[in-house]
Amino acid sequence: MFNAAMPYRRMGNSGLRLSALALGGWTTFGASVKDENTIESILTAAFEAGVNFFDISDIYEKGEAERAMGRVFARLPRHELVISTKVFWPMSDDVNDRGLSRKHIFESIDKSLARIGTSYVDLYFCHRPDPETPLEETCRAMDDLIHRGKILYWGTSEWSGEQLRQAHALCDRLNLYRPAVEQPQLSLLKRQRFLDDVSPAARALGLGLVTWSPLASGLLSGKYDNGLPQGARLWRSENLRASYISEANVAAVRKLKVVADEMGVTRSQLAIAWAMTQPGVTSVITGATKLDQLKENLGALKVNMTEDLKRRLEAAIPPG
Ligand SMILES: NC(=O)c1ccc[n+]([C@@H]2O[C@H](COP(=O)([O-])OP(=O)(O)OC[C@H]3O[C@@H](n4cnc5c(N)ncnc54)[C@H](OP(=O)(O)O)[C@@H]3O)[C@@H](O)[C@H]2O)c1
Repeated sequence: MFNAAMPYRRMGNSGLRLSALALGGWTTFGASVKDENTIESILTAAFEAGVNFFDISDIYEKGEAERAMGRVFARLPRHELVISTKVFWPMSDDVNDRGLSRKHIFESIDKSLARIGTSYVDLYFCHRPDPETPLEETCRAMDDLIHRGKILYWGTSEWSGEQLRQAHALCDRLNLYRPAVEQPQLSLLKRQRFLDDVSPAARALGLGLVTWSPLASGLLSGKYDNGLPQGARLWRSENLRASYISEANVAAVRKLKVVADEMGVTRSQLAIAWAMTQPGVTSVITGATKLDQLKENLGALKVNMTEDLKRRLEAAIPPG
């Protein structure tokens, strides 16, 4: 739903406009958040605040996120939604139920569309590069899905600058639809790969950039300052805990509190506003398990992210 408070940005050189803040379903909808009323209240509040872009994947709780979010989308005007989903990660033990082969892409899109309850998705992402499938096979399959009207644009996630350049050159040579968007990780804590490699390549190719985990799975909110709050994501997941929680990271996040308090905003708002103003970023995909988190995160739109403020945040959290 159009909301004057929400900036809408062109996705790279395409004509599609995405809300600067998006909402995704990883580890949340259909997973840690199963209550249908809560899911509906969060998605509907995001939509009413002007969020038009909602990000899912087949692998998120093996299809349950697509189902849970799809049930809410059914009550919203489809033409106002930009829905994305993804393909790559193994959905079962079957040897072909994975990767970016023509077979898996064709089987996966139909399953995703059925779970979401839509006849097309706006964006379809190759969730990782697939070294075991020729790039031409993947590009041709994506091009075919666009011609069949099942997807409107295709994109990549966590591809390197060189892989993006190769895909573009190949599509140009074969006259295929090119990937229009890349989905990389970006937060104050994990920013170097984006800044050094992915963002320069994407901007040179005219790709949009929709970035994930702006709060480093919640760490940048400051909720882990004094240990692990029961039920929070890094309390629940040992793997994610190992990749984010360290004394140095927690100490760095504590330093952000001084800046946030001075400005009368929260650390989550600062971290999201920082990501929204990085080079080439079309939209920052956030996550929320509670309505209050979503509301707080939407407050990032009000932060005036000056160059001086960026420098202060980057000094508090050194790269790497
Ligand atoms: N392409 C990819 O490979 C990839 C990978 C990861 C994510 N993504 C996409 O990006 C989306 C966002 O990623 P993310 O969920 O990792 O984003 P994030 O903003 O880094 O983390 C969101 C999580 O942090 C906690 N949180 C959010 N706001 C908070 C607040 N104001 N105060 C305290 N805690 C707060 C919540 O978890 P708890 O309440 O459970 O602690 C929430 O689920 C995903 O849903 C998915 O669509 C894509």
